[in-house]
Amino acid sequence: MIEIKGLTKRYGNRKVLNGLDLSVPAGTFLSIFGPNGAGKTTLLKILATLARPNSGTVTVDGWDLAKDGAEIRSVIGVVSHSPFVYGELTVEENLRFFGRLFGLGPAGLEARVRELLDSLGLAHRARDRSEILSRGMRQRLAIARALVHRPRVLLLDEPHVGLDPKASAVLDRTLRSFKDGGGTVVMITHDLAKGLEMADRLAFLFRGRMAREVEAARTDAAGLRQMYDSLAAGDNA
Ligand SMILES: Nc1ncnc2c1ncn2[C@@H]1O[C@H](COP(=O)(O)OP(=O)(O)OP(=O)(O)O)[C@@H](O)[C@H]1O
Ligand SMILES: [Mg+2]
Repeated sequence: MIEIKGLTKRYGNRKVLNGLDLSVPAGTFLSIFGPNGAGKTTLLKILATLARPNSGTVTVDGWDLAKDGAEIRSVIGVVSHSPFVYGELTVEENLRFFGRLFGLGPAGLEARVRELLDSLGLAHRARDRSEILSRGMRQRLAIARALVHRPRVLLLDEPHVGLDPKASAVLDRTLRSFKDGGGTVVMITHDLAKGLEMADRLAFLFRGRMAREVEAARTDAAGLRQMYDSLAAGDNA
């Protein structure tokens, strides 16, 4: 469960998040849409404890972002623009490193690393240094790394970008089974169809605020497009 109240973030004079409120119940898959520069990645970085807000409150599974950063990092998995892996380590070394960092014991760790390498189609690249991977392969590794410690909340910033159709389908399957296991997902995407297909709830972030939220079951592709266009028409950022 994620609870955000009055979240504000300034970079210099620019107010990037402007009193944003958002509540994501446990087990929900939320897709967030919004124009370039609206503040989506900034929101995700704050949730991931990678950036500090100027004001507002955030709790994740009851932990307070302002004082329980370590606990929050242990319950979330993040797939962002940067893969957060060590280039000089191999694929499997990275997964072991992050697994250990989040407290997986040696026995469980090796099995978990193998499982992720297999499910994300990385087994044949396990011993390659991460820095030589292709973009899509690096994205697969970023997804594996985000999952290695069995988080309860996944934060995803345009996670399908760079993936080939097969890897994209693998990611969808992975996310569905994560959600079936009770996980909470927040996914930022510019792909309205993909966001609609995957989510239970849809939210539109315009100019630093949630401009609208809707249940996915209450709309379809055309309706969603219309909502987006009408919000964008009123947006002169
Ligand atoms: N470190 C930073 N320093 C200064 N300004 C920043 C910084 N990070 C982001 N911004 C500004 O904050 C605003 C929101 O950026 P953000 O990356 O959150 O947008 P976004 O909604 O993710 O956009 P996109 O769809 O292009 O990814 C932009 O105007 C951006 O220039
Ligand atoms: Mg972004």
